Amino acid sequence: MTQILDNLMKKGVLVSPEVISSQYDEQTIKEVINFFGEDLDILDKELINNYLYNKKADSKPRVEIIKDYTKESQKRTFQDFVKIFNLRFENTASILKSRQELGSVSSINRIKRKNRSDKVATIGMILEKRVTKNKNIIIELEDPTGLCTAVIKKTDDNTELYKEAMDLVLDEVVGITGVWLGGAIFVDNIIFPDVPRTHELKKQKKEEYALFLGDTHFGGKVFMKEAFQKFIDWLNGKIGDEEHKKIISKIKYIFLAGDTIEGAGIYPGQEKDLDIIDVKDQYDDAAKWLKKIPSHIQIISTTGNHDTGRLAEPQEKPSKEFAKALYEIPNLTLVSNPAVVNVGKTQDFPGFNVLLYHGGSLIYYAENIPSIRALGGQRRVDLIMKFLLQRRHLAPTHGSTLVLPDPQEDFLFIDKVPDFFLTGHIHRASVANYNNVTMINSSAWTETTEDQIKRGLEPLPGRVTIVNLQSRDVKIINFLTKKQKEEEREKIENAAK
Ligand SMILES: [Fe+2]
Repeated sequence: MTQILDNLMKKGVLVSPEVISSQYDEQTIKEVINFFGEDLDILDKELINNYLYNKKADSKPRVEIIKDYTKESQKRTFQDFVKIFNLRFENTASILKSRQELGSVSSINRIKRKNRSDKVATIGMILEKRVTKNKNIIIELEDPTGLCTAVIKKTDDNTELYKEAMDLVLDEVVGITGVWLGGAIFVDNIIFPDVPRTHELKKQKKEEYALFLGDTHFGGKVFMKEAFQKFIDWLNGKIGDEEHKKIISKIKYIFLAGDTIEGAGIYPGQEKDLDIIDVKDQYDDAAKWLKKIPSHIQIISTTGNHDTGRLAEPQEKPSKEFAKALYEIPNLTLVSNPAVVNVGKTQDFPGFNVLLYHGGSLIYYAENIPSIRALGGQRRVDLIMKFLLQRRHLAPTHGSTLVLPDPQEDFLFIDKVPDFFLTGHIHRASVANYNNVTMINSSAWTETTEDQIKRGLEPLPGRVTIVNLQSRDVKIINFLTKKQKEEEREKIENAAK
C-alpha cells in the first residue's frame, strides 16, 4: 500500500495525510487510481468517498441501443437518392394506411379513372407546391403509379386546412382526401403520419431522473467553464439546495445532444476561436470533464456537426482515433446522429425510448415554414420539433440537411414514436410536450456573441433539463453565474432595440 502511494507522489499526485493514515484497502485505492488515470491530481478522502458512494449507487441502469448507424461511408449515387425516396414513401404510406380517414385509399392512377365529383383519398409525396395569384395552393403529388394535382382553395371557412397546406414541404409524404374534379383533387383534409393522440405518457415506478444537455463545445475559447463547473459541482452535491441534493443520487442518465467538442476547420478562421487546437486534445479535455460526472450515471452522447467524422447524416460517432479518451469512460455510450436508445427497461416496464438528433435540419424549417417563421423561427424550436414528429421524419425535404443516402434504410425516418426527443444545434434550452412526447432542445455551454444575436440566433446557454421519470415532471435548471445571467439579459435587451 505504502509503495502504491509513494509511486503516486513521485508522479506528482498530492496525497492527503488522511489517506496515508486511513484504513482504505489496497483494492479501493487501486480502483480509484485506475478510474481517474492521468486526471488524478489530488488523492483525498473526499475523492475516495465519492468514488465509493458512486460505486454503491451503481446498479448499472440499463441502456439498450435501438438504432445506431454503424455502416462505413460509401460512395453514393443518384440512384441511391431515388431508392431512399421510395423507401420514404413506403414507410410513411404504411403508417398513413392505418388511419381511419384513409380507409378507402386509392393509388393515383386509379383516382384518375374515377368519375367527376367522386370522393377520393390518396397518399403521395409532394413534388411541387405553388400559390396562385388568388392565393389558392396547388400541389403536385406523386406515388409509384403516377402524378396528380391537388388544390387547396383559399376560403374563409378552411383556415386550419389552408394553414396546414401553406406549411407543406417538398418531398414529404401525406394523405389527402377530397373530391375528384376530373383534372385535380379538391382537397378537404390533409393527413400527416403524425404521433397518435393515444401515445402513452409512460411513467416508471421508481423515482429516478434523466438530464438532457448538449453542445458543450469543449476546447472552444468561449466554453463556459465556470457555468459547467457549477453543473459538475451540483451533480457532485457540492452546491444546490436540499431538494436538489436529494435528487442527485437518483439521477441515472445524462443525454448529450452532440457538438461535444468545438472541433476544427468547421468554419473559416475557426483557429482564432480555439482554446485547444487539436481535436484529439479537445476530446481528451471533454473526457476530463465527463469523468467528473458521478460514475453511477449512464451518459449517452450523440454526435454533432462540430464533432469529427463526416457531416452528412446519418453521422457516425467520433472515431477511436480521435475520441479514444471518450471510449475509455465506462459509463459513457457513444451513438450516431440520429440514434435511438431505450433506458429504464425492467421486467414489467418497457423503458423509455429516446430519440437523439443533433438537429442539422432545424434551421431550414425555422426559416422555411410560414407558421413557424411567423411565431419566432429558431426561437420556437418546440414548433420545429413538433413539425418533424408530425412528418415522422427528421429532414423531410431533400437539402434541409446534408444526407448520405443509404439505399437499404431511411435512417432519418421516425419509425417508432419516441418518449423523449432530444435535439441541440440551436443552443436554445426548450421543453415542450406533443402528444406525450417530451421534446427537449439542449442548451449549450458556449457564450452567446452579439454577432449570433444579430444573425437572429437567440441561444439560452448554461441550462440543463431534468426529467423525473416517475412523474414525468420537467424542469430547466440554469447554471449560469450571476454575472452571466445579467450579461445575457443585457444582450437580449440590446438586440431588441
Ligand atoms: Fe453547437
